[in-house]
Amino acid sequence: MPTPPAISPPPAPPTSRRSFIGEYLRSPGQIGAVAPSSSALARRMLQDVDIAGAGLVLEYGPGTGAFTSELLSRVSPQTTVIAIELSPRFADVLRAKHPTLPVRQRSVADVESVLREEGLPDRESVDVIVSGLPWASFPEQLQVQCLSAALRVLRPGGVFVTFGYQLSSVLPAAKRFARSLPSYFADVSRSEIVWRNFPPAFVLRCQKAKQPG
Ligand SMILES: C[S@@+](CC[C@H](N)C(=O)[O-])C[C@H]1O[C@@H](n2cnc3c(N)ncnc32)[C@H](O)[C@@H]1O
Repeated sequence: MPTPPAISPPPAPPTSRRSFIGEYLRSPGQIGAVAPSSSALARRMLQDVDIAGAGLVLEYGPGTGAFTSELLSRVSPQTTVIAIELSPRFADVLRAKHPTLPVRQRSVADVESVLREEGLPDRESVDVIVSGLPWASFPEQLQVQCLSAALRVLRPGGVFVTFGYQLSSVLPAAKRFARSLPSYFADVSRSEIVWRNFPPAFVLRCQKAKQPG
């Protein structure tokens, strides 16, 4: 009787830490970090943001999902979450972790076309953007493209929350990003330092003006 072929178990998904270092070595400017964010930073990111009351939430640059689980634990039945991640490898890791989450492997500079493809309005339809993008590694043109598009899709009064590393805040690109925020948003506030993150980080919570003008 022929021996049945050996059934090998599916390959284990790479750990977040291992995938992070691999992706960082491949494209340091796009990843901007050698380790995923901590759960302490994830909680601080979402502390002052009403996720349960939101209809549409976008996660920018979710990587291996350091903020995603915390984000999904806060949604209500009315909340739709869409993740937009440029790295195809991280997008696959995220899909394996959260099979029901829509993960679009694109640049957030193209957020409007992502929304159109989802059948959603591409203007002022988003309540919250949770961003893990490495702004301090971005050239000025990319910062401007991504922030301008974010502002167009956010509803009046919508919230954009992002983070930076304390150590990198002296870099010219980080300074330029921080200085530019008040020209996009009506209200910008910076948190205390979250020491339980490698490296220590802070959160920037930005709110779009409630009224035009
Ligand atoms: C610093 S990592 C943060 C990952 C995760 N949010 C965390 O905190 O651990 C930055 C992430 O942004 C993604 N990214 C960079 N540029 C992007 C872009 N233009 N559009 C979408 N994602 C981008 C990278 O691929 C990476 O996953």
